[in-house]
Amino acid sequence: MNGFAPSPQNSPPLLVVDDLQVSFDTADGAVPAVQGVSFSIQRGRTLALVGESGSGKSVTAYSILRLVQPPGRVTGGRIWLHSRREGDIDIAQLDEKSGLLFKVRGGLVSMIFQEPMTALSPVHRVGDQVAESILVHQDVSAEAARRLTIEMLKKVGIANAARCFEQYPHELSGGMRQRVVIAMALVCRPELLIADEPTSALDVTIQAQILGLIKSLQRELGCSVLLITHDFGVVAQMADDVVVMRRGRIVEHGPVREVLKSPRHAYTRALLDALPSRRAAARRDRSPGQAVVGK
Ligand SMILES: Nc1ncnc2c1ncn2[C@@H]1O[C@H](COP(=O)(O)OP(=O)(O)O)[C@@H](O)[C@H]1O
Ligand SMILES: [Mg+2]
Repeated sequence: MNGFAPSPQNSPPLLVVDDLQVSFDTADGAVPAVQGVSFSIQRGRTLALVGESGSGKSVTAYSILRLVQPPGRVTGGRIWLHSRREGDIDIAQLDEKSGLLFKVRGGLVSMIFQEPMTALSPVHRVGDQVAESILVHQDVSAEAARRLTIEMLKKVGIANAARCFEQYPHELSGGMRQRVVIAMALVCRPELLIADEPTSALDVTIQAQILGLIKSLQRELGCSVLLITHDFGVVAQMADDVVVMRRGRIVEHGPVREVLKSPRHAYTRALLDALPSRRAAARRDRSPGQAVVGK
């Protein structure tokens, strides 16, 4: 199977995940991690995938890039990428060695991992690492790759980009490293950016900056974003639509505004109640005459 099929509509969503199933083989048999997950992402939109730890968010994201490692395996479902550049691709059906899968990974779809050091090699200069991802996916000279890298480092808000090019990851702060990772993810202009808890390793001030940066670059480059988080505050700030996962299944799905206004599922309400702003509001409601200290 070559993974191509005719487009089902005139203007389909960029990504359609349909009935995805992923299991992990264990001594006790196959343990399901994702069970029948379906959602789609329109062009230029942001979908948040939210749920507590272990609910299957990362495994879903890895499936889209075919990065689920044994003992895990995708046991069913379709993952359609309706790419402007490469046409319609069922990622789930692609051969592991196909050239198209190579184009999908890092070219059409790229991913920002939770911990920036996962994506960066400690023994190479950061500029060379960003340039390398250009050289792998684009037919340009080393000099042009260097120029594009410095341009991208500036775009992600690194003031002295030429100096940063020469530095090693350990010489940068956590926030700077995550900026470099974002540069690396976006330098090939992916149609879909997957960001798996991109700010949870960072402190709160830097978190806000990095989220703002992802949002403005998304607008500028016109890509779609699949944003994974366990934080509804981040969902409210960033996403158009939200999928709430629990124990490998979707329990709620809809436009962010609607889900925030009237969550239908008890689990979504519990996640919302965990927000610091809501906890403070609840405390205020309970004790109307008292000042709320510390919030
Ligand atoms: N390496 C692994 N070995 C066995 N089971 C795993 C492994 N990775 C993930 N899982 C299973 O998949 C489930 C979902 O994991 P994951 O997608 O990482 O959760 P999340 O990103 O929502 O925190 C886990 O609860 C676990 O049961
Ligand atoms: Mg995860």
